[in-house]
Amino acid sequence: MKLDFVIFGGVGDLSLRKLLPSLYFLFRDGNMPRGSRIICASRGALSRDEFNELIELKLREFMGSHFDENVFADFFSHLSYFKIDLIHSPDWQQLSAELSLAAEPRNIIYYMSVPPTLFATVCEQLSAHHLNPTYSKVVVEKPLGEDYQSALSINQLLRKAFKEEQIYRIDHYLGKKAIQDIIKMRFENKALDNVCNKDHIEKIKITVSETVGVEGRIEFIDRAGILRDMVQNHLMQILSLLLMEMPEELNDEEIRDAKVAVINTLRPITETNVKSHTIKAQYSDGVVGGVTVPSYQEEITGKAEGCGETFVALKAFVDNQKWQDVPIYLKTGKRLSDRSAQIEVIFKEGNSQKITIEIQPNIEFRNLTDFTNLINEQALNEQTNARIPEAYENLIHQVIKGEQANFVRDDEILASWKWIDGIRDAWEKTNQKMIEYKAGSSGPELK
Ligand code: BG6
Repeated sequence: MKLDFVIFGGVGDLSLRKLLPSLYFLFRDGNMPRGSRIICASRGALSRDEFNELIELKLREFMGSHFDENVFADFFSHLSYFKIDLIHSPDWQQLSAELSLAAEPRNIIYYMSVPPTLFATVCEQLSAHHLNPTYSKVVVEKPLGEDYQSALSINQLLRKAFKEEQIYRIDHYLGKKAIQDIIKMRFENKALDNVCNKDHIEKIKITVSETVGVEGRIEFIDRAGILRDMVQNHLMQILSLLLMEMPEELNDEEIRDAKVAVINTLRPITETNVKSHTIKAQYSDGVVGGVTVPSYQEEITGKAEGCGETFVALKAFVDNQKWQDVPIYLKTGKRLSDRSAQIEVIFKEGNSQKITIEIQPNIEFRNLTDFTNLINEQALNEQTNARIPEAYENLIHQVIKGEQANFVRDDEILASWKWIDGIRDAWEKTNQKMIEYKAGSSGPELK
């Protein structure tokens, strides 16, 4: 069946920077059904020429040497712009006519590249205009709530218009190849996977470092803090994929059941252990990549209150038989010395083995003689100079195919928020101190 891909917020930053380049590659590589249409819906008035100029300019900018004029011309002929005021019913009638679902059944994917405050309006209008048949799919982006309660409301709202199996909640880390490979790697190396437990593993470290500061997102970062911006989603996803019980079969629901089970067994961080198990911090001025940068407080002056943490370190424990009392160190922060994301699984003394998985900047598995398949695949990519698809491209392709394993289910989001809310609550009750770290350093260490 032909596909209509409708992007609400179709000419916004995410769409231009990530979604359209991904769709370009999917289209070019034959991964979109023939006769598909991509409809960019947004508020402003744009003529066909203006739309063409904007899309070409941005794709050239964001795709660099991958941009090809001929492919673009063909790709663009499948794109259209649709002016919509989301609260204006006649606009929805027009959209309905444009999609003409009743006349010709087509697969349909809605991508909500709009703030969560608009989800309600979009869902209500889609229902009111019968644009949500059971075969339609909806893709939503983080932030999905700012605590358990708000995440619950967003879920309920989406569920008024769509069934859970129609909803694809994006966490772009789940689209990164190295993260998608965690399951494959564990599944294909059961012997090694079986010794990864409390008897053999001393500790696990999951570290995501960024060199960027708060950029244009001062208000958001200051309100949310890095605990909610990064740990609740990205680090939690890595943790659950790494520590979940391996399901008998790799199907979407069994994988997601296993992930939720791990998150539900995370030991709560409370008033009694919050001081020894967490650090929250903000950067002072310093030098990052040879450039002198101001402190967080200086950057936000006059624009926010300055209470959001830009760094967090946590010591977590999974209270189940397999992982009991093995510390899991989670660390992430902005304005650190380098941009990297890494998992380290450290074996107990005497074994002296360590597994390191570099998620970025380069996908790499080290000290893993058993994982030759994956290393070879990486080497092959390098030799042939093959392009490794970006996270969004992988994820959108999976939405098209209807594969849900790499999308976050409602109960997963809620379980994760519950644990994060506990930490924030304990910070507040104990008046946890915000400490400082030098921009360009590797940040404070949790013992
Ligand atoms: C986003 C966060 O989800 O992930 C940003 O909101 C962060 O604050 C970004 O910079 C990091 O993503 P990546 O893929 O660059 O590691």
